[in-house]
Amino acid sequence: MKLAPVVLLLLCFCLSSCEGKYGKRQKNQVTKKYELPSAPATPQEDLVDAKCLLKKYTHRSCSKVFCQPWEKCVDGTCICKLPYQCPKDGTSVCSTNGKSFPTYCHLKSFECLHPEAKFLNNGTCTAEGEFSVSFSDKSSDSRGIVTVKLVGQDKKMFICKNNWGMVEANVACFDLGFQQGALDTQGRFYYSEDLQINSTECLQVRCHGFETSLAECAFSKQSAPGYRGLAGVLCYAPDADLPARESFRCVNGKHVPLARACNGVNDCGDQSDELCCKGCQRGSLLCKSGVCIPNQHQCNGEVDCITGEDEVGCEGSHVGRSASSTLSRASQDGLLRKGAGHPEVQEETEILAADMDTERKRIKSLLPRISCGVKRPVHTRRKRIVGGRPAQAGDFPWQVAIKDGDKINCGGIYIGGCWVLTAAHCVRPSRAHHYQVWTSLLDWIKLNSNIIVERVERVIIHEGYNGTTYQNDIALIEIKKRSSQKECVFSNSIPACVPWSPYLFQPKDSCIISGWGREKDNQKVYSLRWGEVNLISNCSQFYQNRYYEKEMECAGTADGSIDACKGDSGGPLVCVDASNVTYVWGIVSWGENCGKPEFPGVYTKVANYFDWISYHVGRPLISQHNI
Ligand code: ARG
Repeated sequence: MKLAPVVLLLLCFCLSSCEGKYGKRQKNQVTKKYELPSAPATPQEDLVDAKCLLKKYTHRSCSKVFCQPWEKCVDGTCICKLPYQCPKDGTSVCSTNGKSFPTYCHLKSFECLHPEAKFLNNGTCTAEGEFSVSFSDKSSDSRGIVTVKLVGQDKKMFICKNNWGMVEANVACFDLGFQQGALDTQGRFYYSEDLQINSTECLQVRCHGFETSLAECAFSKQSAPGYRGLAGVLCYAPDADLPARESFRCVNGKHVPLARACNGVNDCGDQSDELCCKGCQRGSLLCKSGVCIPNQHQCNGEVDCITGEDEVGCEGSHVGRSASSTLSRASQDGLLRKGAGHPEVQEETEILAADMDTERKRIKSLLPRISCGVKRPVHTRRKRIVGGRPAQAGDFPWQVAIKDGDKINCGGIYIGGCWVLTAAHCVRPSRAHHYQVWTSLLDWIKLNSNIIVERVERVIIHEGYNGTTYQNDIALIEIKKRSSQKECVFSNSIPACVPWSPYLFQPKDSCIISGWGREKDNQKVYSLRWGEVNLISNCSQFYQNRYYEKEMECAGTADGSIDACKGDSGGPLVCVDASNVTYVWGIVSWGENCGKPEFPGVYTKVANYFDWISYHVGRPLISQHNI
């Protein structure tokens, strides 16, 4: 960090209240305005899911959050893509080490692999291109009022406090080399006046949270509201004062006040304070996957919850966070800013520098998409497995039947390309040529005309399948391509999506099973039937020692009236997400008897096998959302 040589005047003043819990507490300067709301002991404790914390999830955990467009998910972690895996479309950008990249994605993927090369500007690398962040306080490297020098501007500028929150503070600290980000945005910050600073105006900055440099955030100019309105930050250094009150330990080792966990704001910098939540504080929304997101991310045109509900039912309520949006961030850092009153409303003028958040979204929209889990619009389902109702044409376009010689013992699920998922106990690789896969079948007795019969190329059984315990009861069937054809054409079928995260659906969610299996009384069934079942937690209470939490899933109804049974094996347990996309959540595997409430059906938990499936069928076939 470069420091100006001449210090003319040393001004000391206090940003916000001086009451910052880690700052040196100064008597007489505690103003009422910034006190934390008086609340019961620690309601935040109830919001945090302690068991989940053991898994040490961060912004790189793709079972909890989406990876960035310059990352991909492997084994549950977002890893750096290679630059050539980025979409080609875009304009060139420049990095701090003077290297030019064809697009922002190329630079970010390069940065991901070599963290020293950060984004500098969206133009060509020229000598005058310089962006720098520094602190106004010459006596400390880790705290101060933030000053930045934008590319093409000759003077350093202050940052306005308006909109300045932990997200921005973390980025400022990352920029200055503090890997754990910021400790606080409040406290006593010193200002050594410097003639080089333009103090009649300040910059309003808005970051998203993925940035590693303030240069990637959106800036706009405002007239400076005086020193009290300038942004300061205390970066987290390993020797920083430890909080006196209860704190939350981030995965990156930083401590943040417990009161800031599950508030939608990424205080930790690695998001670990928002990923294991049973509830969220005011100003934030709980995704079904146990993640808190800021209210502003709801209906902003970008899906944040992996379960999709933040962008559902948004008609007419698109907020859109453009760089010039003057939306107050107050609710996002509710606790920090509580009582701040109405931030002086400032006229924003020019938008300066690049808005890389918009660019990130644009890149996201260029990533390849797959189509799965969405049925063609069909006539409404006529209401009527054990206790199930008959299916109508088009209701289960991913359902297939597996015929072995002239017996049909099992079902299967079409997942795209030439691939069908089934249970390992249904098939044997050596019998591949005996199998037939029937699609669009409704009734074995009254055959419908659009049935397509496919032959099998090969069968892949999970290498960990155990026929005694039914662990890893999962197999893939590769369909034979028709001679003269390069691809498999499942013309009447639609693939079910393969879930990549065990958090997409939760116990008590209602899902659907389907198959040609027997009725409770072992009565034979010829037509495809389906039924609604709920996902059940804690299944070891029903099957001590036989139930393996990570690999298996239980589902049933309270009275046991709906269940899979003999012959349904290998078939689907599908769940539908908030945006109406169908996932194959389970594969019918085993159960004690059929339709007994004390013995729910047990399914292979498909989400646990995403990497195994993608290894065999190829990642692009089943990966959505840049997974
Ligand atoms: N293993 C059985 C089959 O081969 C499936 C049993 C499912 N049983 C149950 N009660 N859900 O078809």
